[in-house]
Amino acid sequence: MMAMQVVSAGGCLLPLRLLPSRRAAAARPPRASGASAAAVEEDGKVTLGGSGVPVTKLGIGAWSWGDTTYWNEFQWDDRKLKAAKGAFDASIDCGITFFDTAEVYGAGISGAINSESLLGRFIKERQQKEEVKVAIATKFAALPWRLGRGSVISALKDSLSRLGVSSVELYQLHWPGIWGNEGYLDGLGDAYEQGLVKAVGVSNYSEKRLRVAYERLKKRGIPLASNQVNYSLIYRNPEENGVKAACDELGITLIAYSPIAQGILTGKYTPDNPPTGPRGRIYTPEFLTKLQPLINRIKEIGASYEKTPTQVVLNWLICQGSNVVPIPGAKNAEQAMEFAGALGWSLTDQEVEEMRSMAREIKPVIGFPVEKL
Ligand SMILES: NC(=O)c1ccc[n+]([C@@H]2O[C@H](COP(=O)([O-])OP(=O)(O)OC[C@H]3O[C@@H](n4cnc5c(N)ncnc54)[C@H](OP(=O)(O)O)[C@@H]3O)[C@@H](O)[C@H]2O)c1
Repeated sequence: MMAMQVVSAGGCLLPLRLLPSRRAAAARPPRASGASAAAVEEDGKVTLGGSGVPVTKLGIGAWSWGDTTYWNEFQWDDRKLKAAKGAFDASIDCGITFFDTAEVYGAGISGAINSESLLGRFIKERQQKEEVKVAIATKFAALPWRLGRGSVISALKDSLSRLGVSSVELYQLHWPGIWGNEGYLDGLGDAYEQGLVKAVGVSNYSEKRLRVAYERLKKRGIPLASNQVNYSLIYRNPEENGVKAACDELGITLIAYSPIAQGILTGKYTPDNPPTGPRGRIYTPEFLTKLQPLINRIKEIGASYEKTPTQVVLNWLICQGSNVVPIPGAKNAEQAMEFAGALGWSLTDQEVEEMRSMAREIKPVIGFPVEKL
């Protein structure tokens, strides 16, 4: 059955159930946390740290586009390609113009396609129809055999070529290297000075590494704009390990990855219907059983705003301050449109705290081990 749709203010086709309610539309803007929180631009965008680069308050993650190592049941095909393009176009229609990819996304056998190449293609196709301005974030893979600052510039040039652009808005070190980190940071600085990137960031960096990176770039007058880390209602490590506080203090944007816990916080996976594939090993029926009371409460809170659980948990992140930018992954147009409904309203402080306190009852899953390097 086709869902009923209406066209929203930005020309965005929204299924009726995703429309903002009157209560939601009247709600307050999110709070800023800390003196150094990123500036909120007039058009509702935020700046990436001290870089001056504006991005939408929510970005779209493109890890699953073309990937057959973790996502897509290990198979890529034309149907999935069309759906991914639908996700890109729907994001633009809804005013979301910030996209996160990486040189290693879209890897695998079974017809995998590099995510940067797909994003570049989608941008080009869209630009053939109309002028669109997007902000691209991509990442350098700190592989052990890559040494020295030159390896960063060389990988970046390959990324730019796949994306079909002469510069990107944000270039990030995907994870700390086992060695060679000073060289990587110097390479980031070189990329910035050469005008190949408008802002530089890191990802999966601990508080200690973040401070070192910040200071090293600062000596060259370059702001460290962001740290992209795993952060969601049920994975609050950044609140506990000093990363969030350091970002607030230094004016660094915290880009929240896996913000809907890889689909688990949408409420669609239950103990009787757990996710398949690699996610099934992380989010087991036992874990999902413990999660149900929280999911039920999220649904109740969502109902009072006429919002879906996905929109509630993304709004919970946005409520953590204007320097938190979630980047949920969308596989199709409907998922991307749903994300847009997380913007333009705000949970109350009491709801934010109640959800955090309920989430504390659930033991977090094991994250990406590189964040402990
Ligand atoms: N820096 C890093 O090390 C790192 C690590 C991980 C991710 N990331 C970045 O963060 C982005 C997002 O993280 P993620 O993809 O791991 O997890 P996520 O955004 O928490 O979850 C994405 C998944 O949730 C499901 N979903 C999305 N929208 C939905 C909706 N509206 N309703 C129901 N289900 C929905 C989809 O999977 P199904 O439809 O199959 O359920 C989708 O693939 C990535 O794309 C990537 O850009 C970075």
